[in-house]
Amino acid sequence: MEYLSLIQSRFSVRNFSGRTVREDDLREILSAGRLAPTAKNFQPQRIYVLKSPEALSKVRSITKSAYNAPIVLMVCSEDASAWVNPITGRNSGQMDASIVTTHMMLRATDLGLGSVWVCWVDTEALKRAFMLPEGIEPYCLLPLGYPADDCTPNPRHYERKPLEETVFER
Ligand SMILES: Cc1cc2nc3c(=O)[nH]c(=O)nc-3n(C[C@H](O)[C@H](O)[C@H](O)COP(=O)(O)O)c2cc1C
Repeated sequence: MEYLSLIQSRFSVRNFSGRTVREDDLREILSAGRLAPTAKNFQPQRIYVLKSPEALSKVRSITKSAYNAPIVLMVCSEDASAWVNPITGRNSGQMDASIVTTHMMLRATDLGLGSVWVCWVDTEALKRAFMLPEGIEPYCLLPLGYPADDCTPNPRHYERKPLEETVFER
């Protein structure tokens, strides 16, 4: 898809069809995440693919925002492996994980899949439920699947602030 129509056509999908996601599509989406830039190219992202019935039922018991997606990507960072800005002391893990997620989200749209970025989740509960190794921090979930036939954008999707409210010259 051409880039502008890709970003214009993406919206948060919260109702998925029962269709199984093709393994090739999943691999393409994960590979798009791999191409994302990360601070100093340290690549601290760690992505857990939740797709077994057990994993899906666990994640759905932790957050309503997993919806009925057939796959949920749990995007984490091993923050100890991420770059730390020596001036601010800020760890780049969350930023890196976000860029990786954006790459995957847009590739999903490109392939005709839908997704929704999810942060409304108890990350400590995720760590316990999926027995994440020490130091692995979940930053967001990306429920993924083919949109249901009657899936339409939430009205909020059409609300965008004018550039003047968010862009400044100095
Ligand atoms: C950081 C972040 C966190 C979000 N968390 C959730 C969430 O927990 N549950 C949910 O249904 N949507 C969540 N969303 C989706 C936003 O509500 C949605 O992107 C926004 O309303 C704009 O709509 P659109 O994605 O359809 O354009 C999140 C989006 C972002 C970027």
